[in-house]
Amino acid sequence: MKTQICIIGGGPSGLLLGQLCQQAGIDAIVLERRTRDHVLSRIRAGVLEQGFIDLLDEAKVKTRMDTEGYPHDGTVISFEDMEVRVDFRKHTGSSVMVYGQTEVTRDLYAARDETEGKTLFEVDEVEIGNAALNGDEPATVSFLHQGERKTITCDYIAGCDGFHGPSRQAIPAAKRREFERVYPFGWLGILSETKPAHHELIYANSERGFALCSMRREDLSRYYVQAPLTDRPEDWSDDAFWAELKRRIPSRIAEAMETGPSIEKSIAPLRGFVCEPMQYGRLFLAGDSAHIVPPTGAKGLNTAASDIHYLFEALKARYQERDMDALGNYSERALARVWKTQRFSWWMTKLLHRFPDTDPYELRIQRAEIEHLASIESAQKTMAVNYVGLPY
Ligand code: FAD
Ligand code: DHB
Repeated sequence: MKTQICIIGGGPSGLLLGQLCQQAGIDAIVLERRTRDHVLSRIRAGVLEQGFIDLLDEAKVKTRMDTEGYPHDGTVISFEDMEVRVDFRKHTGSSVMVYGQTEVTRDLYAARDETEGKTLFEVDEVEIGNAALNGDEPATVSFLHQGERKTITCDYIAGCDGFHGPSRQAIPAAKRREFERVYPFGWLGILSETKPAHHELIYANSERGFALCSMRREDLSRYYVQAPLTDRPEDWSDDAFWAELKRRIPSRIAEAMETGPSIEKSIAPLRGFVCEPMQYGRLFLAGDSAHIVPPTGAKGLNTAASDIHYLFEALKARYQERDMDALGNYSERALARVWKTQRFSWWMTKLLHRFPDTDPYELRIQRAEIEHLASIESAQKTMAVNYVGLPY
C-alpha cells in the first residue's frame, strides 16, 4: 500500500489530522489498534477550546456540535467557603464548548465514512521502518491486519498513538529527552444521567481534596473526586461517591444536586510528561504520544488539537506550496505551546489539590492565591486566557 501520510492511531489526534488532510487533498491512511466501538466507548475529556472548534470547522465536522454542544462563558473555583467566578467572555471575548471527546470522535469517524477516508482497525504489531527515520528513502510502516503482515510506504508518519503507543519509542533514546511529573493521587470519575449540579463547571479545593462538577448534556453529568492511586473504581459504591463529592463542593450546590446511578466509573492517574523533540526524520509525534497533562484545566485533548494544527499547516505548506522546510519547524512550534499548557495545568493542579505534604503553610498559600484570583481582575484574565486556549 502507498500513501502520503500514514497516521498511527485513530483517536482524536489521528482522526482530526486524517480529516484535515482529506479536505486538503493530501492522501492519508489511519491505522487503529482497537475496534471503532472500543474507541467510542472511552469516556474522556469534555471541554473544547475555540481553536479546536475552528479546526473541526475546517475539517467539516462541526455541524452536530453546533446544535448539541454547550458554550460556557465562565467557570467557578471554590476553596472551602469561598467561591470565585472567572468570566471568560468578559476577559477574553471568547468561551469554551462543552462537548465530549466521545462525540468529537464519533463525528470524525462519521466524516471519514462519508468522505471514504481509509481507516484500518484492529491492526497489531505496528513497526516503523528504520528508513522512516534516516532521511531520503520513503518511510515504511508494517503491521498485522486480518492475519496478514502488510506494509505501507509513505512520505511521512504521524505518530498519534497515545501515551503507550509505539511511535515515541521509535525515536532512539539518545535522540530524545523526556520530562515527567507524576502526581501522588488520581481522579475518580463518574458519568450519571442526572441534571448537572450547576450551569457552569465547578473546580473545588476542599479540606477533603479536589472535586470537579462537569457535564456532557442537560441530562448527563460528569463528576470527579481526587482519590488515592491505590483505590479501584469497584471500591467506591455510587452512594460513597455522592457523599464524598457533596462534602467537597459548596454546600448550596451540594444540597440541591440531583444524584442517581453511575453509568461509568473509572480512575485516571495524574501525570505531566513531555518528549522533546516531537519529530525524528519523517516521523512526527502529536497528542498524547508526545505529552500528557494532569487533567485540571482540560488541556489534554486541546493540546493534541494544537499539535494537529501545527502539523497540518506544515503539511499543507509542503504539499501545496512545495515548502520543504515547513515540517522542520513543527517540533519547535508545537513544543512552545505544549510547555505553556503544561505550566497552566501544573498551576491549576497545585492550586486545587491536597497533596500528601500539604502543610498549614501551603494551605495559607493556596488560600492567598484564591483570594488574589477573587480580587485582582488581571489574575482572572490570566486564568481566562489560558483556559479558553492560548492562540496557535
Ligand atoms: P488517544 O486518545 O490515546 O488515542 C490514541 C489512539 O491510538 C487510540 O485509539 C489507541 O487505541 C491507538 N493506538 C495505540 N497504540 C496503537 C498501535 N500500536 N497501533 C495503532 N493504534 C494504536 N483530557 C482532558 O482534557 N480531560 C479529561 O477529563 C481527560 N480524561 C482522560 C482520561 C483518561 C483515562 C485518559 C487516558 C486521558 C484523559 N484525557 C483527558 C486526555 C485526553 O483524553 C487525551 O489528551 C486525548 O485522548 C489525546 O488524544 P490522542 O488522539 O492524542 O490519544
Ligand atoms: C472535564 C475534565 C477535565 O479535566 C476538566 O478540567 C474539565 C472537564 C470533563 O470530563 O468534563
